[in-house]
Amino acid sequence: MAKKEIKTIGVLTSGGDAPGMNAAIRAVSRQAIGKGYKVMGIMRGYSGLIAGDIKQLHPRDLSDSIQKGGTILGTARSMEFKTPEGQKKAAKVCRDNGIDSLVVIGGDGSFKGAQKMSDQGINVVAIPGTIDLDIACTDYTIGFDTAVNTAMDAIDKVKDTSSSHQRCSIIEVMGRHAGYIALWCGIANGAEDILIPETYDYDEQRLVDNIIDTFSRGKRHHLIINAEGIGHSASLARRIEAATGIETRATILGHMQRGGSPSCKDRMYASIMGAYAVDLLTEGKTNRVVAYKNGEFTDFDIDEALAMEKSISEFEVQVCKNMSI
Ligand code: ADP
Ligand code: F6P
Repeated sequence: MAKKEIKTIGVLTSGGDAPGMNAAIRAVSRQAIGKGYKVMGIMRGYSGLIAGDIKQLHPRDLSDSIQKGGTILGTARSMEFKTPEGQKKAAKVCRDNGIDSLVVIGGDGSFKGAQKMSDQGINVVAIPGTIDLDIACTDYTIGFDTAVNTAMDAIDKVKDTSSSHQRCSIIEVMGRHAGYIALWCGIANGAEDILIPETYDYDEQRLVDNIIDTFSRGKRHHLIINAEGIGHSASLARRIEAATGIETRATILGHMQRGGSPSCKDRMYASIMGAYAVDLLTEGKTNRVVAYKNGEFTDFDIDEALAMEKSISEFEVQVCKNMSI
């Protein structure tokens, strides 16, 4: 339960930015202001919190933000906040600014930080915001939908030129240690192979045989979606070209996947999650994560959420393989 009455809610974005974070900031702020709370926007995640870089947000400050990529509050990765001293400083800044409650929008690293603020006596609700989709308690994270669509569009373009030149193309997508962007693009772009940390066995001979087999079956390209967690796309391309004699190119999509105007789904789900977070605080709940699980918006205890493990669907991996005949 929340330890004290809610008067002022601080909101911050932390870790890698994700399209839709602005929709969440806007929803948290307007839902809270509508309920009579004061809202403080904390700049640059936990770094800005420690530095006291905070400003009050009014409804008009959120105008024209829902369609914007990135985060209007800025974000950061703060080493100082990982230390007990940094966390104490952050809690003092909260108290000095009258912030009794905090909404943290970020990935599981940011959730660990939220847990620490809860330990410091601040009411805390976290919202999953990461393009990686690597948070176990939820089937949806803010930004994944936009990022995977951005990647898919880019890969379609690479596929065109790959077919024209009858090449093998390796396209590296983001995801840190997770293969969700790669798996979704593997299916959505009709890739011949996906290399993801959850399943890749590093059997390069199998990859080489598969590429030769692809062209022998009359296909005009061989598309490999390589997850960032496997990496080394350029050197892999050189080895494949040497082993197959087939021209091979590597493309690393990089940070373009994190930018751009959020999709309808990211605007909509982020808005619901933002409003839901404020309602949890109003109900007196703290140390919670908002989630979307089995078709419903729900919430979990942060400790419980962080202990959960996420696995990749073997069926989806198999579908990707089956579609490449
Ligand atoms: P994400 O939230 O996307 O997973 P990071 O892992 O970079 O991104 O975490 C974002 C920030 O959250 C870190 O820079 C740090 O300030 C804070 N954080 C991460 N892990 C911890 C931890 N174990 N304890 C306290 N704070 C943490
Ligand atoms: O977590 C989002 C993400 O884009 C990952 O996919 C990637 O590994 C990482 O952040 C990149 O971080 P940075 O922007 O610090 O290079």
